[in-house]
Amino acid sequence: MEKIKCLITAGATREFFDPVRFISNPSTGKMGISIAKACRDLGWQTTLVLGAVQAPAPEGVEAVWAVSADDMLRETSKRFDDTDILIMTAAVSDMRPKKKFSHKVKKEDLNMAVEFEPTPDILKTLSARKKSQILIGFAAETNDVISYAKKKLGQKNLDAIAANNVSKPDAGFASDFNEISLIFKGGEILNLGRGTKDELAKNLAKILQKRFF
Ligand code: CTP
Repeated sequence: MEKIKCLITAGATREFFDPVRFISNPSTGKMGISIAKACRDLGWQTTLVLGAVQAPAPEGVEAVWAVSADDMLRETSKRFDDTDILIMTAAVSDMRPKKKFSHKVKKEDLNMAVEFEPTPDILKTLSARKKSQILIGFAAETNDVISYAKKKLGQKNLDAIAANNVSKPDAGFASDFNEISLIFKGGEILNLGRGTKDELAKNLAKILQKRFF
C-alpha cells in the first residue's frame, strides 16, 4: 500500500520590518512537531514546514524552513498537489509592515507610525485548489472558542479544525500541554480533552487515520 503523504506546518512566521526587527507571535512549534512525530510513527510520509520553532525537527521527517507567510505559502503550495493531508498548526502572522527597510533603522528614527497589510491566508489559498486532499486547521482562540473555530472551518473550507483555547493557564502557546476539541465538517465535535502535546498529537493522528483513510 502507498504511504499516506502528510504535510504539516508548525511554529510562528515572522514579518520583518527591517533586517533586525519583526512582528510575530508566541508559537514555539511544539504542537506541530508532536503531530509530525505521531504521523511519522503511523508510517506516513511526513513533511514539516517550519517557521520559528523552539524544538528540533524530528528524525524521519523531511524538514523545510520558512520565515514569512509568503515563504510558508510557497513551500506548502509546491507540495500541496502531491499531499494526502495538510495539517496547518503554524501560527501565521496575519499582518506585515507595508514597508520593509533593507537597512537597520536607527533608534532615533523609530518614532514612526507603521502601516500594516494582511498576509496571505495559506489555508484559504490552498483549499481553493483542493482536489482530494484532506485539510485540517488549528484555531487559536481566547474566547467563544467553538463558535469562532466553526466559523473558520467553513470560511477556509476545511475537513476538520482543532480548536484550542490559548488563554487557559499552561495550555496552547509555548506550553507542553494543550486542550483540544476537534470539530468536523458537518458539525460533529470530538473532545480530546487536556494532555501533553505528544499525547494529544498521537490521539489526533489516530483519529485522522481512522476517519479519512
Ligand atoms: N492560517 C493560515 N494563514 C493565515 C492565518 C492562519 O493558513 N494567514 C491558518 C492557521 O495555520 C490555522 C488556521 O488558519 O490552521 C486558523 O488560524 P488562526 O490564527 O486561529 O485564525 P485566523 O485565520 O488568523 O483568524 P483570526 O486571527 O481572526 O482569529
